Amino acid sequence: MTRTRVRHRCEACGGTSPKWLGRCPECGEWGSLVEELLGGASTSASGPTSSPVPIGDVDPLGATRRATRVGELDRVLGGGLVPGSVTVLGGEPGMGKSTLLLQALGAMAADGARCLLVSGEESPEQVRLRAGRLGTLAPDLLLLAETSLPMVLAHAAQCAPDVLAVDSIQSVVDPDAPGVAGSLVQVRDAAQRLVRLAKERAVATLLVGHVTKEGTLAGPRVLEHVVDTVLAFEGDRHHALRMLRALKHRFGPTDELGLLEMTATGLRGVPDASALFLADRRAGASGSVVTPVLEGARPMLVEVQALVAPTGAPMPRRAAQSLETSRLSMLVAVLERRAGVGLGATDVYASVAGGVRVVEAGADLAVAVAVASARADVAVGSETVVLGEIGLGGELRQVAQAPRRLAEAVRLGFTHAVVPTSTPDVDGLTLERVADLAAALAACGCAP
Ligand code: TYD
Ligand code: MG
Repeated sequence: MTRTRVRHRCEACGGTSPKWLGRCPECGEWGSLVEELLGGASTSASGPTSSPVPIGDVDPLGATRRATRVGELDRVLGGGLVPGSVTVLGGEPGMGKSTLLLQALGAMAADGARCLLVSGEESPEQVRLRAGRLGTLAPDLLLLAETSLPMVLAHAAQCAPDVLAVDSIQSVVDPDAPGVAGSLVQVRDAAQRLVRLAKERAVATLLVGHVTKEGTLAGPRVLEHVVDTVLAFEGDRHHALRMLRALKHRFGPTDELGLLEMTATGLRGVPDASALFLADRRAGASGSVVTPVLEGARPMLVEVQALVAPTGAPMPRRAAQSLETSRLSMLVAVLERRAGVGLGATDVYASVAGGVRVVEAGADLAVAVAVASARADVAVGSETVVLGEIGLGGELRQVAQAPRRLAEAVRLGFTHAVVPTSTPDVDGLTLERVADLAAALAACGCAP
């Protein structure tokens, strides 16, 4: 017997519920659940059409990856795009998604791949102009300015590209389906049909997905379930630096970080992030400390800066940029109570130079030392790096992959490191192993 079943899907977060509810149990949105037909719970009388195969006989996809020739994108993808895979490139407006797409498609087309770029937002003239500037005018790069989903699917089927890119998924609409362009119903419908096309014809597909400032992926959140890979393209609007990471990746690890810089002629890979972040560092200034952080699998040196200023306000400010403010407040309290650094009548500001956001606890010691250095107005030695997580008792804790991080410090010419006691030796570095924050401040010359 075939029975049609229904479930209810949240239009805000994509979550499902077997019965209708006034409020989504997953994201808490009111009135967002809509009915969805699940088709029949059927087993057909004619028997199955697919058949199980021994696992070893399955063709591994890795060998057939197509490199995008944009090095940092390939790094995050684990070598390139897999035929038949669907990748969402999500990011806020202005991040450079269209630019990255055009550069990747141009390079793949120059490599002999047939590429079709569907532009639903910019006119062909605009895209042509940009491609000229980026130097990606390859004859195998075909351009289609279209927003109708049936037309996009028909053209893609007819032109049979190796690579299909749609910029953006929010701009294509099926005139016969409910909802306006960019609505969740439309976005999900478009994505599902593009995924089907990709699988049927082995087209490597890239979809641009806009993300709003609040981080609600207007659509892409719903897309996550249907696509193979979700890439996040992030950065501070006021900096040229862009970070590319995989939030979901069915064909490789998700811990690679891609670093790119927006220049007048498009996005350029940043092979040496540490050198970039430290380029403008002023040696000998108080309140500045270098620490090796780990972004995914990538060690990078960053400069943590702090400023301490007297205030008469009853509630002094603790403000952090590119760091977590709550973590800064905790470290200020530990500095006061465990290391005797008086900060009760001062505002404390801390930031990471260069536009990279640091959220890991491994940067604790750098933040604390920067604040103490600013408070004492004593500079930390310019050959010194610090590393360690700080506990509420003021004790210093080991961080993951310390040797790899410290090797990066050696590469950049640092010779001295203040680290937790259990840190193993590192060639080229004099380690000062300390048990707690007070000892670390003494080792850095900025004890109160
Ligand atoms: P864009 O790729 O249009 O961003 P998105 O598609 O994510 O909205 O590019 C964003 C910004 O990048 C745009 O404001 C202009 C700037 N830009 C450059 O600085 N250099 C360039 O070569 C290009 C193409 C763009
Ligand atoms: Mg764009």
